[in-house]
Amino acid sequence: MRKARIAVFVSGGGTNLQALIDASASGIITDGEISLVISNSATAYALERAARAGIPTETVLKKELGSQQAFENALIAALDRYEIDLIVLAGFMSILSESFTSKYPRRIINVHPSLIPSFCGKGFYGLHVHEAALAYGVKVTGATVHFVNEIPDGGEIILQRAVNILDNDTPETLQRRVMEQAEWKILPEAVQKISKEIIAL
Ligand code: GAR
Repeated sequence: MRKARIAVFVSGGGTNLQALIDASASGIITDGEISLVISNSATAYALERAARAGIPTETVLKKELGSQQAFENALIAALDRYEIDLIVLAGFMSILSESFTSKYPRRIINVHPSLIPSFCGKGFYGLHVHEAALAYGVKVTGATVHFVNEIPDGGEIILQRAVNILDNDTPETLQRRVMEQAEWKILPEAVQKISKEIIAL
């Protein structure tokens, strides 16, 4: 049976990519296959995770290409070459322009480490999100998987999971627990859900 062809965009450690690789191996993701990993950093450990799993990788560097448009054109060219159906932003630390996102309506999803609409949008990424949650004093946080449109973290929500904040949490301990209890679970679930919908079309 045909599977949705997935490109995962990464920038760093790639634990969410690893969760997708593991979910493909364990049968949680059955209607999609990770066909390509694109990194916007040459040193991202995620590239090693992809190579170890036998997934083709491309590194696309904005600095070398000179402009956002040239960067996005290179992304589009790679997506075309691999005939990608679904783009998954998994720790991808670069905001995509409206001209890019509007080319792929409901075909780009992102995992964000808070319960949107809290602690999201411009400037809220990685550890900063957890620092902000602790500074505010919320008692519950979590993660969200959502469609990507022209508004940073503003697209329709697909899945969310809540995580309790503990009295002695640091940004680092909280980040780890949000990953373990929420991100690594709901991202594979969402990828399966959307892949299935794409195949059904
Ligand atoms: C994850 O917590 C992800 O939700 C977050 O960066 C981390 C990447 O970790 N993404 C954002 O903040 C995007 N706004 P990973 O490279 O180990 O998957």
